[in-house]
Amino acid sequence: AQQHSVTVNGKTYETDSWFNTPSKILESTSRRLHLQKDHPVYITRQIIESKFTQPTFKSYNDFDPVVSTAENFDSLGFPADHPGRSKSDTYYINSTTLLRTHTSAHEAQLFRASSSPGYLISGDVYRRDEIDRSHYPIFHQLEGARVWDRTKVPNGDIVKAIYDDLAKLPTHNVQVEDPNPPHHVERNPLQAEHHSAAEAEAVSAHLKRSLELMVVEIFSRAKQAAARQDPNYVDEPLKVRWVEAYFPFTSPSWELEVYYQGDWLEVLGSGVSKQEILINAGVPDQIGWAFGIGLDRIAMLLFQIPDIRLFWSTDERFLGQFRGVSDDLDRLKRFLPFSKYPACPKDVSFWLRPTSAAGGDDRRGNVHDFHENDLMEIVREVAGDCVEDVKLVDEFVHPKTGRKSLCYRVNYRSLERTLTNEQAVTMHEGVRRMLVERLGVELR
Ligand code: PHE
Repeated sequence: AQQHSVTVNGKTYETDSWFNTPSKILESTSRRLHLQKDHPVYITRQIIESKFTQPTFKSYNDFDPVVSTAENFDSLGFPADHPGRSKSDTYYINSTTLLRTHTSAHEAQLFRASSSPGYLISGDVYRRDEIDRSHYPIFHQLEGARVWDRTKVPNGDIVKAIYDDLAKLPTHNVQVEDPNPPHHVERNPLQAEHHSAAEAEAVSAHLKRSLELMVVEIFSRAKQAAARQDPNYVDEPLKVRWVEAYFPFTSPSWELEVYYQGDWLEVLGSGVSKQEILINAGVPDQIGWAFGIGLDRIAMLLFQIPDIRLFWSTDERFLGQFRGVSDDLDRLKRFLPFSKYPACPKDVSFWLRPTSAAGGDDRRGNVHDFHENDLMEIVREVAGDCVEDVKLVDEFVHPKTGRKSLCYRVNYRSLERTLTNEQAVTMHEGVRRMLVERLGVELR
């Protein structure tokens, strides 16, 4: 029977042909790991919040993840054909309602209503994605913003007001690379109708110092934990660099990368907020900056957690390791893995269905409607957290028929128990069956 309505966190929504959210995902909306005391995601949020304090910044942590397409995309200036809007990337409830893909969905509302010049918002966000140890369809973001009001600063001198506030921030001694010019004419223009170059530069300078201080706090804590626990730990000085980026709702925009344990890691996105958002939010006299950071990847680094699925574990061997840390962040410890259970890899090969709708068969056009995320979704639906990763291991086009065949390796492994071969076989049969039923592929 067709489902016509669905209840998420106690609210009921009509569904339509856009509905593509599995029940496991809908049920997980109640987990809210960022609000679960002593959970690594919660602790990571706390560390970040400690750098943006009241009364300048107000925190909002319990906004509903079900939002409108207007909030998630339109209000932020996403073009109509942006790939993020597609059903293969996003979980829809109906054509105008979805599970937020980022906490930026709340920008307009908060710019309008927050009673403080800065705000932080954390929450669970949802994206259809690949399966491996650092991707999960639900993760957590923390977003922050800071604005100044032209009509409220002394003498109307907003540039001076921003630099005065910057001067009140602490300094740090971490090396910063920032090779970009302040704007890029096409990719990251100055919003010249709304901001003078001096204003945009003041906002950028305040943004950069604020976010550098946040990142220094996070990574200093990671290093302290490592040094406390590992007698052979060798300290390497932290380095950060600003890299030009692009977001529909900021200009200019940057990502901040951190050099940690031999790699440059991308840790956040940020920029000078597009003035249209503030104008549409009813606060045209304000200008400011915004950033967004993913909490789960940061928590994995802080606690040296090897697999993102562990966050969803209710096993005491996992949760017990962090008890008491929320009340005393100096007790932060690295995670000690419990024994790794054996892996059970299984392959599945299939021919893709040629798409007649696109007007061609394989022989001529090689047109398919196969999207890898649909396969990932099936695997998650059947095997849940018993899959470690899914990889494309072979791709092949038949020389005579032109038909395309793919082979994926599904690596079954539980974090909490030994899977028998029989259990893996049963799950794999379920995956094979659903691939045929839902995607119309032909198994080989
Ligand atoms: N929402 C962006 C993302 O999910 C991050 C971001 C937030 C960028 C705010 C700029 C300003 O990638």
